[in-house]
Amino acid sequence: MGEALHQFFIWVGVLVCLVFLVKCVRFCKCIVLSFRKVQPSSFLQSMGQWAVITGAGDGIGKAYSFELAKHGLNVVLISRTLGKLQAIATEIERTIGSRVKIIQADFTKDDIYEYIKEKLNGLQIGILVNNVGVLPNLFPSHFFSEPDEIQNVIHCNITSVVKMTQLVLKHMESRQKGLILNISSGIALCPWPLYSLYSASKAFVRMFSKALQVEYKEKGIIIQVLTPYGVSTPMTKHVNTSIITKSAEDFVKESLKYITVGDETCGCLAHEILAGLLSLIPSWALYSRGLQRVLLTSYTNYLEQNIKVK
Ligand SMILES: NC(=O)c1ccc[n+]([C@@H]2O[C@H](COP(=O)([O-])OP(=O)(O)OC[C@H]3O[C@@H](n4cnc5c(N)ncnc54)[C@H](OP(=O)(O)O)[C@@H]3O)[C@@H](O)[C@H]2O)c1
Repeated sequence: MGEALHQFFIWVGVLVCLVFLVKCVRFCKCIVLSFRKVQPSSFLQSMGQWAVITGAGDGIGKAYSFELAKHGLNVVLISRTLGKLQAIATEIERTIGSRVKIIQADFTKDDIYEYIKEKLNGLQIGILVNNVGVLPNLFPSHFFSEPDEIQNVIHCNITSVVKMTQLVLKHMESRQKGLILNISSGIALCPWPLYSLYSASKAFVRMFSKALQVEYKEKGIIIQVLTPYGVSTPMTKHVNTSIITKSAEDFVKESLKYITVGDETCGCLAHEILAGLLSLIPSWALYSRGLQRVLLTSYTNYLEQNIKVK
């Protein structure tokens, strides 16, 4: 019995070391890649002529639109506010010279996909960035204190990813080429109280993306889920940037370095480190009443002092 127990603990130890080693290798890969240049334009262009970006009118989606156009792709911008899309299209065409198509669509509706399909018809789509998403409340709050945006969150954060993927993946499959970037969130990496609905919707994106990558990897298609933490955008009321909180432009530039790192990345080294540190917190502490109270008070105060739009 004593010998068996001894062997058991040795194997548990070996297993823990192996898991830690895998994490270290992944982390080292990110450090190396963070010093590397963004994927060469030829790599991104080799996926196809057009990149489609949802939620392209502002924040991270807008930054992807500019960055991918700079890499020589033509871009399809899909978002809600026509004026913002027109302004971005004009600026991209004027300053970068890529072709731009705009599609005004409201992702809180579920009858928009036939219209989007028609508009995308005939384009060789190499890249899809499933970026559109809504956060019901930037400030931590209990489920019933959040604005009632259940359907909007489900349509925008979940349905859009599945339906847009369905629209482009078939063509990518027949060309044996394509890149799909699904923007989830760092708070999808584990259950996140006080952001329950948003965190769960983003966990869906993460699981869907990772499972789909297994199905389509052999077919030459890269499907990657990004799990960033703070990025200063309208969603985060333009919170001040810091080592942790990135500007949308910096985040997007850095995230494009990690396309080949695997099926999942935080998108930047700072967030990769933060995710590593958070994963060390045992769940009894993470979900303790004390920490929830800190989130409701100190984190709310921090946000209030650091956001630019009140
Ligand atoms: N910012 C962060 O800290 C952070 C962190 C982790 C993950 N993310 C994720 O990253 C993605 C982009 O976030 P963001 O911060 O850039 O968001 P954002 O600043 O709110 O911008 C979102 C864009 O999506 C558009 N949009 C919103 N609702 C829409 C709808 N119903 N139909 C069509 N378009 C709609 C907005 O359109 P309008 O221009 O008309 O407003 C805007 O252009 C989201 O999926 C978010 O969950 C963000």
